[in-house]
Amino acid sequence: MVAEAVASGVELEVIAVREGDQFGADAARHVMLAREVFRSISQTVTPQGVLAIARVRESTADEAIAAAREAGWPLVVLDRVQDPGNVGAICRTAAAAGAPALAVLDGCADPFGAKSVRASAGNVFRLIVARADWEDLAAMDGYGAAAAGGVPLTESPIENAGMIVLGSEAHGLSRSNLKLVTIPLMHGVESLNVAAAAALLLFEVRRRRAA
Ligand SMILES: C[S@@+](CC[C@H](N)C(=O)[O-])C[C@H]1O[C@@H](n2cnc3c(N)ncnc32)[C@H](O)[C@@H]1O
Repeated sequence: MVAEAVASGVELEVIAVREGDQFGADAARHVMLAREVFRSISQTVTPQGVLAIARVRESTADEAIAAAREAGWPLVVLDRVQDPGNVGAICRTAAAAGAPALAVLDGCADPFGAKSVRASAGNVFRLIVARADWEDLAAMDGYGAAAAGGVPLTESPIENAGMIVLGSEAHGLSRSNLKLVTIPLMHGVESLNVAAAAALLLFEVRRRRAA
């Protein structure tokens, strides 16, 4: 994850390596930590021996909108997605599909929080990420992804949308005036996990853009 951050252009302020491990990367400060000290400050049970501190620049909503528009990609919008594992997984998928920018609305887990960053495998740093509110997105045309009641994905031109909004794990979308797109599911299955839905939608955008 740290290597991924560096590869994405993140500048490290501190890099701390566990005694006995090795990791080469540029940082303003390098520290070697005794194994017990390293274990006590690490947030995972089986840490990989490298910790880093970096300053990340969050973008504005306008910057994220402009980046998406310039690339001809929908802006990926997360609406109260609360699980950092899902936020990170969606960041990873968005980067893998080629989406340039993502906006998180109030109530979302922090995309730069430790759990989200780990779940993104460091790929969050490849995206332009902004915090936004619905007002910032008022002029944007787009689709809300809905577990039910939307136009089937095959009939929805989501690749031309200004944004694709993914809703919360428990409550779905918080805005009611969006066009809706639905990935049809087998009878009896209520919904997909939000990160799974994001993967299907974003790779469908990628497929259609390439066609
Ligand atoms: C677990 S679902 C939310 C289910 C929730 N009970 C509801 O009221 O919508 C989380 C999010 O994943 C996306 N999602 C899940 N299944 C989907 C599907 N079949 N088609 C499109 N999006 C879906 C939607 O954005 C949804 O808000």
